[in-house]
Amino acid sequence: MVEKMSLIGKHYSALPTPCLAVNRRAMEGNLSSLQRFLDSKGKSLRAHAKTHKSSRMAALQLEKGAIGVCAAKLSEAEGLIRHGIEKVLITGPVVSDEAHDRLIRCLGLASDLIVVFDNIENARRVSRKVAPLGRTLRCLIDLDPDFNRTGVPLGEAIHFAHALGELPGLDICGVQAYAGNLQHIASLAQRIASSQSALKAVADVFNDYKSQGFKMDIFSAGGTGTVQADVAIPEVTEIQAGSYVFMDVEYAEIEWGSFLDHPGTFESALYLLSTVVSTNHQGFVTIDAGLKSLYRDGGIPSVIQPAQTGATYEWFGDEYGRVNLQKPDPAFSLGQKIKLSISHVDPTVNLFDNIFVVENETVVDVLPIDLRGCSQ
Ligand SMILES: Cc1ncc(COP(=O)(O)O)c(C=O)c1O
Repeated sequence: MVEKMSLIGKHYSALPTPCLAVNRRAMEGNLSSLQRFLDSKGKSLRAHAKTHKSSRMAALQLEKGAIGVCAAKLSEAEGLIRHGIEKVLITGPVVSDEAHDRLIRCLGLASDLIVVFDNIENARRVSRKVAPLGRTLRCLIDLDPDFNRTGVPLGEAIHFAHALGELPGLDICGVQAYAGNLQHIASLAQRIASSQSALKAVADVFNDYKSQGFKMDIFSAGGTGTVQADVAIPEVTEIQAGSYVFMDVEYAEIEWGSFLDHPGTFESALYLLSTVVSTNHQGFVTIDAGLKSLYRDGGIPSVIQPAQTGATYEWFGDEYGRVNLQKPDPAFSLGQKIKLSISHVDPTVNLFDNIFVVENETVVDVLPIDLRGCSQ
């Protein structure tokens, strides 16, 4: 096996494939663009680490101005905390007895830990473990903006908050509302209208909470797709964007309009590097990137380099892909490197141990995906 650090300084074509590589300029641009955009709107960024699953990337997001990072699961939070990142919001439910013990261990290591609740019995169980320790766990009420995945239905939100507020050891500091169903609506106008309508309903509850005396410091919402819409809701304090750092085909295909420094959207920074491994047939070649290196959901990867050849990717099994050619083309001869776009970024990143960082065609760094597999 090639020692990955020994590849630093080499041309990217020396990378063993299939592998993930990121264009450093585009990635840094995405990090800065969103941070600047949110700063200009008076909103904070709590970047979601579920996309990159890398404690080093999380540290970079904090360095660039994020107020914290999100973890989708407890083990993701544990990984971040292990690497010294204490400002972690766990955005999904933590429900088992064993997980509650781990949550409390995390609290001992990261005083800035925040967790969401959407079930009162579950909150009661956590409270029973936290309160006797004399500690306080900060929490957000996870409100369901009609996504129906997790979250308290808005009609039950007031009752829920009063019940949660009774529990010792838990400190309610705001709400979370994530509308995952709206992030990829293709029409910008429709996406903005849908997200604003969903979040306005949540904002009404947020304001009711405030008028009933609940401390509401945080309204954590949104993702990459709805960021333009969500910053216009005055009650929203922070955005939980994740994919913006790398982007993918799913996001590249929706309408963005123009809202960042550069016209359009965030740049596609991440790509999959593959090699032509067989050329024995007319009309197509076989490359070494299949289902084990590209998550299938979210669209068909496109051949981004060699560029403008009209070549198209087709799934060809676990280890292989088929690249259909319009005409015989020496750019697709045996051993040639092919760059593919990523269909769906988060689950694709979770297939690799590291991402090679490339600048001016040279490998300049290796980013460990150290939270890979932290799905528990
Ligand atoms: C709760 C939550 N918040 C934020 C995000 C980030 O969304 P995106 O990657 O679209 O920015 C996700 C993604 O699935 C999520 O589940």
